[in-house]
Amino acid sequence: MSKSLVLFFSRAGNNYTNEGIKDLEIGNTEVIANYIKEFADADLFKMDPLNDYPEDYMKCTEVAKAELKDDARPELKEYIEDISEYDTIYIGFPNWWNTMPMPVWTQLERLDFSGKTVKPFVTHEGSGFGKSLKDLKKLCPGAKIEDGLSIQGSFVDDSRKKVKHWVKG
Ligand SMILES: Cc1cc2nc3c(=O)[nH]c(=O)nc-3n(C[C@H](O)[C@H](O)[C@H](O)COP(=O)(O)O)c2cc1C
Repeated sequence: MSKSLVLFFSRAGNNYTNEGIKDLEIGNTEVIANYIKEFADADLFKMDPLNDYPEDYMKCTEVAKAELKDDARPELKEYIEDISEYDTIYIGFPNWWNTMPMPVWTQLERLDFSGKTVKPFVTHEGSGFGKSLKDLKKLCPGAKIEDGLSIQGSFVDDSRKKVKHWVKG
């Protein structure tokens, strides 16, 4: 039987929305990840950074910008080391500075994607995937990368149907 995994990064708390800065109880990408888990009957793995990002949105953007500039590989609290039992991997993240948060690099570089189907999803506030799909291709050699799902963070709560349609094809 074919098995799916949802591998995602998401930062709850202080974030920028179409209504200004707000506190999110559950991060936007995590909301989508949970929908996918439900519709694809998938396992879930959250990429959780060892050092939390600053609670303050502006401070967080500064840390994230510096990590991107330094091509950093921030450690995670825990890694998934083996994805051999999965056929399809949903990879989800927020758009940070036009690409993925750097902890996503740290995790993806540890995995063997040959023969896997990757279905990317992103939440953002205007930039969609940015250049992340190009970066993802480099990080998942040997994988077949399918069409992605892009959702504006401020509208995740209204996106169940869209997610279902994407998952079910
Ligand atoms: C550090 C940081 C950088 C961001 N950079 C961008 C960006 O370049 N383009 C964009 O559209 N949104 C950007 N955003 C907004 C997030 O992509 C958006 O709020 C996303 O839904 C957050 O997902 P999460 O709650 O799962 O972490 C940024 C947010 C943060 C915290």
